[in-house]
Amino acid sequence: MSACTALLYSMPMRILFASSEVWPFSKTGGLADVAGSLPQALARLGHEVLVVSPWYSGLKRAEPFWIGDIEVPFSGFFEPAGVGTWEQDGVRYAFVGHDFFRRDSLYGYDDDAARFSLFSRALPQVASRLSFTPDVIHLNDWHTATVALVLERGWHLPPGFAYLPSVFTVHNAQFQGEATLAEMAWWLRLPDSIDRTWLNRFGRANAMQAALGTATRVTTVSPTYSREIQTPGFGFGLDASFRSISHKLSGILNGIDQTAWDPQTDAALPVNFGPESVHKGKAAARSLLCSRHGLDPARPIVAAISRLADQKGMDILVDAAPELSRLGLSLFVLGSGDPGLERRLADLAGQDPNIAVVLGYDDPLSRLVYAASDLLCMPSRFEPCGLNQMIAMRYGSLPLVRATGGLKDTVRHLGNGFTFEDASVDDLVRAAREAVSTYGTDKWALMQETALGEDHSWERSARQYERLYSGIVSG
Ligand code: ADP
Ligand code: GLC
Repeated sequence: MSACTALLYSMPMRILFASSEVWPFSKTGGLADVAGSLPQALARLGHEVLVVSPWYSGLKRAEPFWIGDIEVPFSGFFEPAGVGTWEQDGVRYAFVGHDFFRRDSLYGYDDDAARFSLFSRALPQVASRLSFTPDVIHLNDWHTATVALVLERGWHLPPGFAYLPSVFTVHNAQFQGEATLAEMAWWLRLPDSIDRTWLNRFGRANAMQAALGTATRVTTVSPTYSREIQTPGFGFGLDASFRSISHKLSGILNGIDQTAWDPQTDAALPVNFGPESVHKGKAAARSLLCSRHGLDPARPIVAAISRLADQKGMDILVDAAPELSRLGLSLFVLGSGDPGLERRLADLAGQDPNIAVVLGYDDPLSRLVYAASDLLCMPSRFEPCGLNQMIAMRYGSLPLVRATGGLKDTVRHLGNGFTFEDASVDDLVRAAREAVSTYGTDKWALMQETALGEDHSWERSARQYERLYSGIVSG
C-alpha cells in the first residue's frame, strides 16, 4: 500500500446508503440488520453516512422530523414525496414518504417495481434537499439497483450526482425486480436508448442486471456466494452476467451488531450470561422455553428461526423432523412464510410432543430460543450470508448448517458447528447424528467455547467497505 493510498483510507467520506428496510425502523430479514449496523460501523470509522429508506406506515422506534416535500422525477412527470429525518448513533436517516409506502406490508404487491422505482428516483433529490453531496452511493438489492443506471443516463439529476461512484451489494440474487422496458423507462425517466443497456434482459427490464452493468463495484455478502452466483445453480439466470463482471465483483462477509445481540445484557433472557456462566444462563433459558412450550428439558434442543421459504430448506427440516425426534432431540421452530409449510409444521407439532412450533415473527422469543437451544439448524438451499448462525454462536448454540454461501464461510465442521454438503434429509440427519453423539462431551464444550469466542463484529467488514469506497472515490 503506498503512503498516498494509506492516507486516502483514513479520509472521511460522505456515503449515501440506500436500503428498502432498516432495523430497528422496518425489517423483514437480514437486509434490515445490515442497513442498521453497517452505517453505524462506518460512522465509527469517521465517515458521514446518510441512510435513506421508505417511510412505511408501520415505521417503528422513530418519529421522523418532517422537513418538507421533494419533487421526484417519476412516471414522465414530477411526483411529490415527503422527506423526514432522524438521527441515531452518529447516523442520519432520511425517510421517503409517499402513498406507495402506506400499506400493511413492506413488499408483495403487484406494483412493487413501480414503488421502488419511485424510491430509487427519489434518492438524489433527498440527498440534495439535505445538502448532502455524497462521495459514493451504496445500493442494496434490486429495490435500489436502477439508481446506478439513473446516475449514468437519467434526466433531472441534482448537481454532483451524474456519474457518482456506486457500490451495489447483492443480498439475494433470487429477487431481481422486473418490468417491461417501456414501464421502467417511463417510471425512471430514462431515454429510450436504455433498451440497448444492461437493463435489457431478453426484452424485459431487469433492475439487478442494470446495476451489475453500471455500478462501479458489485459486492455480495460473503466470498463463497460471490463465486456461487457465477454458476447456473445459484445465479437465478444471471450467472453469465455475474461472470462477465467478475473483475469488479467481490464478497464481503456481513457482521452482526454484537451490542444488540449480547447474552450478557439481553433483556429477553431470564438469566444473562457470558462465557463464564454459559451453562447456568442456557439452563435457565431452556427451562423457561420448555415449560412454556411443553418440551422435555432433558433433551437437547435443535432450533430453527427463519423465513419459511424455499431458500431456507425448511421443507427438508420438516421431512427430517421425525428422525431428529427419534435421535433424542427436541425441535423448536419459530418462523413464518409459506402457508403450506406453516400447515405442515403445525401438524408436526400436534403429532409429536418433542416438537414445538411458533408461527410468526417474534424478536424477544427468537432471543430466548437462541439462548435455550443447543443447535441451530439452517438447511439452506442457498444462503448469501446468513446472520442466524452468527447470532446462535454468540448465544452458545452450535450451528448445524448446509455448507453454502456465508454458512460455509462462517461455520467449520467440528470446529464451531456442524456442516453437511447436500440440501437433503439424509445429509441433515447424518450431521445431526454426529451432533447428538458429540453432545455432552469435552469436544462439545470446546466447540461451544470456540463458537462463543468468534468475533463477528462489523468492524472488519466496515474496513473492507471503506477500502472499496476509497478506491473508487480516488479513482
Ligand atoms: P434472511 O434475511 O434471508 O431472512 P438472515 O439470516 O440474513 O436471513 O437474517 C434473518 C434475520 O431475521 C435474523 O436477525 C433472524 O433472527 C431474524 N428472524 C427470521 N425469522 C424470524 C422470526 N420468525 N422471528 C424473529 N426473528 C426472525
Ligand atoms: C439476504 C440473504 C441472507 C443475508 C441477508 C443480509 O436476506 O438471504 O443470507 O444474510 O440478506 O445480507
